Amino acid sequence: MCWRWNKQLLTSILDSHIIDYPTPKNLNYMWSFGSTAGIMLVIQLLTGIFLAMHYCPKMEYAFYSVEHIMRDVRYGWIIRYIHANGASLFFIVVYCHIFRGLYYGSYIYPRHYLWLSGVLIFILMMATAFMGYVLPWGQMSFWGATVITNLFSTIPFIGFEVVEWLWGGFSVNNPTLNRFFSLHYALPFIIAGLTVIHLALLHDVGSNNPLGVEYYGNKMSFYPYFYVKDLYSFFILLILFCVFVYFFPNALNHPDNYIPADPLVTPAHIVPEWYFLPFYAILRSVPHKLGGVLAMGGALVVLLLLPFLNSSRVRSTYFRPIYSPVFWFLVFDFIFLGWIGQKEVAGPYVILGNLATLYYFFFFLVIIPFLSLVEDHLLIFDSYSKIKK
Ligand code: HEM
Repeated sequence: MCWRWNKQLLTSILDSHIIDYPTPKNLNYMWSFGSTAGIMLVIQLLTGIFLAMHYCPKMEYAFYSVEHIMRDVRYGWIIRYIHANGASLFFIVVYCHIFRGLYYGSYIYPRHYLWLSGVLIFILMMATAFMGYVLPWGQMSFWGATVITNLFSTIPFIGFEVVEWLWGGFSVNNPTLNRFFSLHYALPFIIAGLTVIHLALLHDVGSNNPLGVEYYGNKMSFYPYFYVKDLYSFFILLILFCVFVYFFPNALNHPDNYIPADPLVTPAHIVPEWYFLPFYAILRSVPHKLGGVLAMGGALVVLLLLPFLNSSRVRSTYFRPIYSPVFWFLVFDFIFLGWIGQKEVAGPYVILGNLATLYYFFFFLVIIPFLSLVEDHLLIFDSYSKIKK
């Protein structure tokens, strides 16, 4: 009796969420990034579990245990390359997912909580990736960890205590590596839990669509049409994945990370992984340490505020002629910040970084609220005058 009841519950949940789930007919391929992000998360979890079977989170052995995985463990090299490049691909997919949301106004009411859960996932992804990069205990791992954990020393009054608490000592050391390993293992499961909440929030209100308007008869069942569509997108991603794993497995890694960590030798340029570079550029564009940290944190906070900054009734950028060019300029600006992030803080890069940071904040804090007031009026006036003619 109980078993039959549970079975019915399970099948009805599966049916209403992934089989008969009413999905807008006109979703384009931009709506595949969510499911591909889910697949990437599963790939990262599985490969991570297998890596952890052979990895040793002790300062003396960490670097060499990774070499052991690469050389001695059967298929260890491919598991490691999938995990390392998978992190990059996961970020590519999630950045596309975020910019898709920005373009089609998917963060606007009633999907504001859905967006907020997404930003939370993104912040946790950044923390997980940062701690994962420390684990091979190469030069970049060690010095990256030193630079980033030191940022907490800018917290007024208790900064240094916080940093020592994070380190578990007086420098980045064995306890630091141990706790980073523990957290790097645990956080992806929290991300997976948050992803379930993310999907529950999505299914509560339903997907947005490229037009940004709901209309009668626009829904069809998720299975089989969107399964096939999302699978097709995943196979395209898989091709890119294979190109990296088989042909350029170290292209996205820093060569210095193949040198064992040495606390006595600082590398000439300490650069984070590519997916942190835009935020790193924002951090460095303010010449004051605390100011830089606040700016970098602020760059994430504006994402949290976004649903409350935009009051436009028109969701899709496709129908917003003034917003459209400034949106595309933001995309350019973000990539440009990434480029600035890996340059030295000197000469023209300083001023260019400042300008790019300024535009980032100007876009979210000024352009979005201003245009959502002005453009709506212009669009309504325009369509009204067309009707009158
Ligand atoms: C582990 C990372 C993530 C996973 C697995 C994930 C998964 C998904 C899935 C499967 C969907 C439905 C399909 C789609 O619309 O693409 C979705 C929708 C959505 N996600 Fe995510 N997501 C993640 C991260 C994020 C982040 C970082 C944000 C924003 C900062 C975000 C915001 C949204 C929004 C607003 C929607 C609704 C889109 C619409 O209906 O137009 N997600 N997500």
